[in-house]
Amino acid sequence: MENPAFLAAPQAIFPALRARGAVAVGDRAVLLTRNADIATLLTNPEVFSSGVGVTETGAKRPLIPLQIDPPKHREYRKILDPLFSPQRMKEMEGPISELARGLIDTIAAQDEVDFVQRFSTQFPSQVFLTLLGLPLDELPTFLTMKDGFIRPESITGQPRGHEDSIALLTKTSDSIYEYFDAVIADRRAHPGEDIVSRFLETEVEGARLSHEDIVDICFLFFVAGLDTVSASLDCMMLHLATHPERRRALVNDPGLIPNAVEELLRWESPVMMVARVATQDTEIAGCPVSKGMVVTGLLGAANTDEQEIAEPDVVRFDRATNRHIAFGRGPHRCLGSHLARLELRIALREWHARIPEYRVPDGFEPAFTTTIRSLVTLPLQPGQAG
Ligand code: HEM
Repeated sequence: MENPAFLAAPQAIFPALRARGAVAVGDRAVLLTRNADIATLLTNPEVFSSGVGVTETGAKRPLIPLQIDPPKHREYRKILDPLFSPQRMKEMEGPISELARGLIDTIAAQDEVDFVQRFSTQFPSQVFLTLLGLPLDELPTFLTMKDGFIRPESITGQPRGHEDSIALLTKTSDSIYEYFDAVIADRRAHPGEDIVSRFLETEVEGARLSHEDIVDICFLFFVAGLDTVSASLDCMMLHLATHPERRRALVNDPGLIPNAVEELLRWESPVMMVARVATQDTEIAGCPVSKGMVVTGLLGAANTDEQEIAEPDVVRFDRATNRHIAFGRGPHRCLGSHLARLELRIALREWHARIPEYRVPDGFEPAFTTTIRSLVTLPLQPGQAG
């Protein structure tokens, strides 16, 4: 899974993996690649749990709602879903478009920029600060916390399991708890239109979120809502930079952008996998699974499964239906999908309105990160026809 060739073009390897069905990885893990098997995994939480232990994040408490199983999970989603509905997110169209334009303004006249540094890292964090009602000058603090938590190894220069990286992770995790404690205390005293104020005031069937719940939800947004959008933007822009005819189709008809976002989410599947832990001895796709084993589904493989998707290896922006599961499936399906879609559509729309032509420099070899397929760098040359 960490092989650079696989990360650069996983779509080429998926058919061979799907042909093998469920694959046991040692005696503690199983890998699934067929759409129907992954559907079974994600829609049976009583057998395949999302509870703590599935993925070690470094947080002290379970991330809400990601690491909570039904029925408690349903209570959280009842409160959270309306706050992240398409209508609610649409209210942010103006401010998010402005953020995108502000960043693109600083890029358009350059000969070459690193898209990762100048756009894809900054944009989702700026959106999140706006959602939280925090000023943009908090961005450096915010990005330091994000990097210390998500990739401590890149700061310490030591592997994730090394004591220096663990120490940085723990320190950062403490500072994230403190940061959100302070934000929530402030919003309790001075409520506004931001998402934390809404968390504080929302009551569904007599249930309210506690202070600790809100801290843990905000913590999860760090993990779930920033790198996922950055990674999607990286994958999409590399794809469009290296497929000029598809890019021109978007420039000539921006109405295609929502479909293009769905198709590129399907094809690139930036969140590569989701994992569950078996709560009992069972089997999936004919493969025996003992209690405690981790079962992982490769979303990109499901999204290119010919049993589910017509012409899965053709990237086209005019699909009539596109039932991809890049946002997952079942009870834990992405809470932020409407926000993510809005961010991605706005970014592609504003970028192509201002920078219709761009290319990667000759000889550029993309290097992808694993688990979430983001790029380490993406040099783009605005104004140069690809
Ligand atoms: C293109 C960007 C994104 C992708 C591809 C993505 C993908 C996913 C996937 C695959 C899951 C399911 C995980 C599982 O089943 O274990 C998920 C869950 C989640 N995502 Fe996203 N996500 C994106 C953006 C966001 C954003 C912007 C937010 C911010 C609000 C967000 C918040 C969440 C939350 C809170 C969950 C947990 C939902 C639950 O457990 O009920 N995501 N996401």
